[in-house]
Amino acid sequence: MNYNKKSVEDIDVAGKRVLCRCDFNVPTKDGKITSDKRIVAALPTIQYLVKHGARVILCSHMGKPKGEVKPELSLQVVADRLSELLGQPVKMAKDVVGESAQALAASLKDGEVMLLENTRFEKGETKNDPELSKKLASMADIFVNDAFGTAHRAHASTAGVADYLPAVCGYLVQKEVSIMGKALADPERPFVAILGGAKVSDKLNVINNLLEKVDTLIIGGGMAYTFVAAKGYGIGKSLFDAEKVDYCKDMMKKAEEKGVKLLLPIDTVVASDFPNPIDAPVEVETVDVTAIPADKEGLDIGEKTRALFADAVKNAKTVVWNGPMGVFENPTLAKGTIAVAQALADSDAVTIVGGGDSAAACEQLGFADKITHISTGGGASLEFLEGLELPGIACLQDK
Ligand code: 3PG
Repeated sequence: MNYNKKSVEDIDVAGKRVLCRCDFNVPTKDGKITSDKRIVAALPTIQYLVKHGARVILCSHMGKPKGEVKPELSLQVVADRLSELLGQPVKMAKDVVGESAQALAASLKDGEVMLLENTRFEKGETKNDPELSKKLASMADIFVNDAFGTAHRAHASTAGVADYLPAVCGYLVQKEVSIMGKALADPERPFVAILGGAKVSDKLNVINNLLEKVDTLIIGGGMAYTFVAAKGYGIGKSLFDAEKVDYCKDMMKKAEEKGVKLLLPIDTVVASDFPNPIDAPVEVETVDVTAIPADKEGLDIGEKTRALFADAVKNAKTVVWNGPMGVFENPTLAKGTIAVAQALADSDAVTIVGGGDSAAACEQLGFADKITHISTGGGASLEFLEGLELPGIACLQDK
């Protein structure tokens, strides 16, 4: 995939109506935004457009309203927060491509900003319906995609609209793609990747692709137990993906053939049951992975494994991490994830955290400012690590 895309700086935006797709899919609770990270991440592009006299028409999805208008998924909360951050009004449209949106877009003056309603209120959005793409395009002169978190979706507002307008990227997409693209295409070595998370099946192609690129692949989290089982050990009640045992064997063989060091947990923190609620007190013990009792479930990596993984990170020049090492929402079972976050924070390497739970863990644990780059994409960064072409980036003009 060509990552060398034209950006907002390669196109004249002055006096133009610019449709800018952002990923404002922010978490909310009781109608309030609980993390504005994605809004903050979109600011450099919006500020550039404002400063250069563009008429800025922002758009995004939030949640999964499935083509229905769901008031609780209105982007009004985003408009309010964005307006505070920008220090200027953000005019909120009542619809996506209807009368309200069109009238507001037509009345915008240079340097003014508006936001369309949740693009997924339109049925055509997730179907990448050309009629919706055309309507979106009809309101603007230029399309800017700055929604890295949604770049893996071929939807009308992320990719389809680029069929009808000159399309370039914003600073966030440019930053995500250049940092992660360089790490994958031309990494400083040793290159270490750390994968965690619950299921092997979520990371099948990531493991396969990374084995082509890294010097060391570390596997922890729930997915590691299927690898442990594939080595012939009992894993008690730990997460197990029976259909993926052969795949794990193949990957271990591939690592050996490629000369990639594959590190798996050597000890694990076990409990009788998964904590319920997730942060409830839990009684644990640490056992060797070769000796997991039949009535116990592995829920975090053990102390020896934490040291092993941290040691592998110590000499690395590039580190990519995706997926927690255990049930990090529970303080007793967060030690493995904390240890990995700490190892990245202590490292002089280029450190990249690939979105989702591991990004949330870094932020919650206070390590965010010690990491080179925390991706704003969950699914998008995973597909990037898989080496897949992201439709929201492929549709943009090459430099
Ligand atoms: C995300 O939160 O990962 C993006 O905003 C994409 O959302 P989606 O998974 O609902 O398409």
